[in-house]
Amino acid sequence: MDVLEAILVALTGLWLFLPAMLPNSAAVVTGGGAPVDFGRSWKGRRILGDGKTWKGFFGGAVAGIILGLIQIAISSPFDAVDYWGFGPLWGSLGVLTALAVGSLLGDMLGSFIKRRLNLERGAKAPILDQYDFLIGAFLLTGLLFPGWVYAQYIEGGQILALAFLLFITPVLHRVVNVIGYKMGQKDVPW
Ligand code: CTP
Ligand code: MG
Repeated sequence: MDVLEAILVALTGLWLFLPAMLPNSAAVVTGGGAPVDFGRSWKGRRILGDGKTWKGFFGGAVAGIILGLIQIAISSPFDAVDYWGFGPLWGSLGVLTALAVGSLLGDMLGSFIKRRLNLERGAKAPILDQYDFLIGAFLLTGLLFPGWVYAQYIEGGQILALAFLLFITPVLHRVVNVIGYKMGQKDVPW
């Protein structure tokens, strides 16, 4: 693989993962109201906490799916067969839905773990805060569309796309959260 090819693999991997990246930022904007755990506790601690709301979950999922549909629309004049990697239609719709929903489930699993570790809502949890959504997105998409995940992020040189995602995710996470904090959308810059 030459350098140009490697860059293309990395950037395509990021492009295909955008429907998993947007939902958590969108949830900050659409969130509020009833928490997913409806305020309930388990063993004296909140199950998920007030930072995980139904409006945030559905708003985030819809945002990620709409972004994916826009990406498919953008790619369709150029690649009406594979949509630049999302795969043939119908399957591609399933993939981007799994990416969006999986990322939000991963984010909730992260909060579940944080509450078990006795960390309050919004408390810093390095690694967990940056990677919970990525793990959730890969788990759900890998469960429902294992062939797609294998072909795009593992097989042969494609592992480079995964490596690039692991590298760029904490960087983007930081940048987006500082912007959200400055815009008054987030209480803390992480
Ligand atoms: N949010 C939401 N519903 C979700 C996910 C996020 O409403 N399913 C909103 C909440 O307002 C939340 C904000 O997005 O405070 C930022 O999300 P995140 O950083 O994941 O939550 P924290 O408040 O930091 O809570 P936690 O400690 O549980 O991660
Ligand atoms: Mg947080």
